[in-house]
Amino acid sequence: MPALDSSIICTFLEAGGQPVSGDRLAKDLGVSRVAIWGRLEKLRAAGFVFTASPRKGYILKEVPGVLHPTLLDAHCRRLKVSLPVEYFESVDSTNSEAERQLANGKEAPFIILAQSQTAGRGRLGRKWHSSDKGNIYLSLALRPFILPERLKPFTLWMGLALCRYIDDNLGIKLGLKWPNDILSPDGKKIAGILTEARLDADSVRDLIFGLGLNISPQQDFPSELKTIASSLAHATGDQLDVNSLTAGIIKNIFNSWEEFKENAWVDSFKKDWPRYDILTGKVVTIQLRGEPVTGLVEGIDEVGSLKIKTSDGKSVLISSGEVTLSSER
Ligand code: BTN
Repeated sequence: MPALDSSIICTFLEAGGQPVSGDRLAKDLGVSRVAIWGRLEKLRAAGFVFTASPRKGYILKEVPGVLHPTLLDAHCRRLKVSLPVEYFESVDSTNSEAERQLANGKEAPFIILAQSQTAGRGRLGRKWHSSDKGNIYLSLALRPFILPERLKPFTLWMGLALCRYIDDNLGIKLGLKWPNDILSPDGKKIAGILTEARLDADSVRDLIFGLGLNISPQQDFPSELKTIASSLAHATGDQLDVNSLTAGIIKNIFNSWEEFKENAWVDSFKKDWPRYDILTGKVVTIQLRGEPVTGLVEGIDEVGSLKIKTSDGKSVLISSGEVTLSSER
């Protein structure tokens, strides 16, 4: 009875730690007290902790520390998230699942979300470590029918939107490493974005925005990632509520997409990119058509290309690539 469970949890979330009586739950939700009691027992078995306070009712004390579809649904309902969210305990890759569903004609927009991925994909054919639970692996699937060149700044805008959301809601300033790396304040990778598009004639038919965000403090990173990857909980030093954070991020990325689609992003992009950008003023090397180009980063242009001044004084605009900071080599 997921809908009833979600309504029960919504009531507890709205109560904000205050007791809720079984009577009130039964009346509000139109079921018997025995039915409520039965559902609370099921939720307890799934990791929710309710304490009973005599004559006052139940208090929600703890929620599961990993993604839980009913709890997530309750948070999405409270935030009025308006697009469908499909949850998987495990999937090969949320981007691949979104791609399959779009190819099968599913109506967009929608979100694919997983507790773990067996074949999480990163940029440039890399793998995205996805076996740890308590993180976010999600894809926003869209069918935008816009011209491909309009997409150029899309990934940068979405990365910026995520940094602003974390800053505003958790008080932690992440860093943006062009084009799509999101770093903790100590320079370790916390999140990555994989945007994939499918063109139809001269317009973008399917667009998938994939986000991997490490949240849980317990990460079982393979040895090659241990020194370069981190998590949000590690950076904030707090235990974070992954379900509430996921609902907020889903709402935020969808709103950010709508701003992008309606061209309502340009001014705040110009204003806010420099607040999170970590490359301007640094010397970097980028592979350009197989050749390394080294230079000083001067910022980005209005469509998100990286501006570099090389040692011979030439200005170069780079539209995609892998950046290595000189200090990282
Ligand atoms: C990168 O930094 O290389 C991008 C990583 C993107 C990972 C996310 S996790 C959710 C979505 N599904 C995938 O298979 N990849 C993206």
